[in-house]
Amino acid sequence: MKSLVTGGAGFIGSNLVETLLGVGHTVICVDNESSNVQDKPYWNNDSINIRGDIRDHTLISSAMKDADYVFHLAAEARIQPAIENPINAVSVNDLGTTTVLQCAIEHQVKKFIFSSTSAVYGRNKSPNVETQSPDPLNPYSVTKLNGENLCKMYTELFGLPTIIFRYFNVYGPRQPVRGQYAPVLGIFERQKGAGEPLTIVGDGNQRRDFVHVEDVARANVMAALADLGQDAYGEVYNIGSGQSFSVNEIAEMFIHEKTYIAPRLGEARVSLANNQKMRKTFAWTPAHDLEKWVRR
Ligand SMILES: NC(=O)c1ccc[n+]([C@@H]2O[C@H](COP(=O)([O-])OP(=O)(O)OC[C@H]3O[C@@H](n4cnc5c(N)ncnc54)[C@H](O)[C@@H]3O)[C@@H](O)[C@H]2O)c1
Repeated sequence: MKSLVTGGAGFIGSNLVETLLGVGHTVICVDNESSNVQDKPYWNNDSINIRGDIRDHTLISSAMKDADYVFHLAAEARIQPAIENPINAVSVNDLGTTTVLQCAIEHQVKKFIFSSTSAVYGRNKSPNVETQSPDPLNPYSVTKLNGENLCKMYTELFGLPTIIFRYFNVYGPRQPVRGQYAPVLGIFERQKGAGEPLTIVGDGNQRRDFVHVEDVARANVMAALADLGQDAYGEVYNIGSGQSFSVNEIAEMFIHEKTYIAPRLGEARVSLANNQKMRKTFAWTPAHDLEKWVRR
């Protein structure tokens, strides 16, 4: 089996590349190394690595030759940078996703798995369920929702088997630890390591559903290999643990000094997944426990 992973040198992508290699796939990895939240891109020595942009049709089409599965993760993947530069977010997330989808129908791949985000739920009441109307509050969420709609359209109009995953807050090995916009677990990891106080945004009562990157990678592989009926395609599936923690509770797990900083606009108060659809369709269950991971 041959798989193409876009954004494969990033946090989640590099973990997925490892999982795919582990189940014996030949893996092609495309990444333009633009992520500035990582210390370095994480190219795997056992994948075929191509440094390039997902908006480059010729490059993506040639990388996708003979691919069975496409996992599309490359993106402007953070809320705050997308608020600062919406033109770039629209360009990478919408034009880029269309380019990868278009190549996927040209190469008639077996499945196209898209990484979207729980941020599309916006102010919806939690727990979030896939039937809620989207409420994207920032350019990142808007462009990711566009990506979802493009996937649905490619399924309906062109018959491409797409699967849309909405990840909640992903943590684990190679999570970003640099810069002010790294996710909270990465920031706390860095701050504790440097002996600095943990910075809590706002009052710290905002709650997040954290899901381990290995559970996310496994969900992708299970979805690719599953024998599915036509009605499973063009559908959205929540990838979350189904449990939420406040930022204050996480800070407690780190057992370290803390300080409070100003709240940020455009971010939801609570995120919590209803993951029943994912459990039912793919028999997927999250295997990792956040508290154990932090303590370790
Ligand atoms: N990390 C999370 O908690 C989380 C939550 C929800 C959704 N997601 C989604 O999962 C995917 C992966 O996120 P991540 O956390 O691993 O982010 P990441 O920034 O570590 O990885 C994204 C990768 O895409 C690459 N990239 C960006 N623009 C590109 C382009 N134009 N051409 C080629 N490569 C490009 C970057 O260099 C980077 O290596 C993203 O689509 C993101 O929106 C992540």
